Amino acid sequence: MKIKVEAPGRVNLIGEHTDYNGGYVLPGAINKKITFDISKSSSNNCEVFSESFNDSFFFKLKNIKKSKTHWQNYILGSIDFFKLNGHKLKEFRCNINSNLPIGSGISSSSALISGFSRAIIEYNNLKYDKIDIVKIVSYVESKFIGLNGGIMDQFTINYGKKDHLILLNCTNSNYNYIKFKSDLYTILLLNTNVKHSLIDSAYNLRVKECKTAEKILNIHYNEIRRLANYSSDKLYRVKNKLNSKIYNRANFVIHENKRTLNAADLLKKSKFKEFGKLMYKSHEGLKNLYEVSCPELDFIVDFTKDLKYVCGSRMMGGGFGGCTINLVEKKHLNSFIKLISKNYSENFNKKLSSIKVCIGDGVSWRRFT
Ligand code: GLA
Repeated sequence: MKIKVEAPGRVNLIGEHTDYNGGYVLPGAINKKITFDISKSSSNNCEVFSESFNDSFFFKLKNIKKSKTHWQNYILGSIDFFKLNGHKLKEFRCNINSNLPIGSGISSSSALISGFSRAIIEYNNLKYDKIDIVKIVSYVESKFIGLNGGIMDQFTINYGKKDHLILLNCTNSNYNYIKFKSDLYTILLLNTNVKHSLIDSAYNLRVKECKTAEKILNIHYNEIRRLANYSSDKLYRVKNKLNSKIYNRANFVIHENKRTLNAADLLKKSKFKEFGKLMYKSHEGLKNLYEVSCPELDFIVDFTKDLKYVCGSRMMGGGFGGCTINLVEKKHLNSFIKLISKNYSENFNKKLSSIKVCIGDGVSWRRFT
């Protein structure tokens, strides 16, 4: 028996750094994927080959330990989860192939864990749902990778739906699909090729800073509420209890959460121009209050501000590098890519990569007997 699984990456139109604060996000799965082919092992070992990493490794199911090679821990961590839950797995061989750029803020790591876990589930006939995979990703990220991330990536990768964004409430995982299809505009990612490493970066520190703000608010108002669900008035009233950095972080999160709900309403009415303005506002906050941008990302966003055919642009994902997400008029797409790429490489002496994306379905699988 063989199983083929495809796990997409994701984009996020707006709602950045809100997920681990219990806020709203507005992401969608994309048509770029990691593919897994899983079948019987030719030995007593499990064998994993990755064409993207140009690497392979072997391990025994009874002996799961963290690896020094970063990407292997996504695989080993997933196996660890199933073992911890008492499953006796079959040895396998898995080939991994991908057209999803790695470390660019489009969630190649969540796609790797989600797709691989689905492959293991199907190969061993286990009963796990999409929501369980969301939890498996969180387990692997926190226990094996050391990242205290939110649920946006894994939720989107598993629940994605073609031509629809997901308005997800990260406090209770309630969600709605919102149609995203325009004859006029398309989504373009521009990859700065500045490699972000969320673990080495300030991501976990941002999580901690927000927790501090949330704790102080909850004590002051005697509530149990996630940070994103406070109002800016309530935050303002405790300003003197927070240092300015923490105040700025919390202020950004609360505004970004509101923006996300407004943006979703605008999208339902196909008001793309107004939607785009909120994307610029989001970037401004990410740059000045949340401090997760970088000069390359700022350059791209600023450059688009004078171009009438770009209706919105902002950094996307964890930050410190990776991609900007841009809403661009379809008929100007190619000339825009040429123009921005030339200016970017003149300024930074680096290549800008463009990734045209469509909103696609979440993880899918097929069984061959
Ligand atoms: C990374 C994390 C997500 C989310 C974003 C920021 O992509 O994996 O959970 O926190 O950063 O919005």
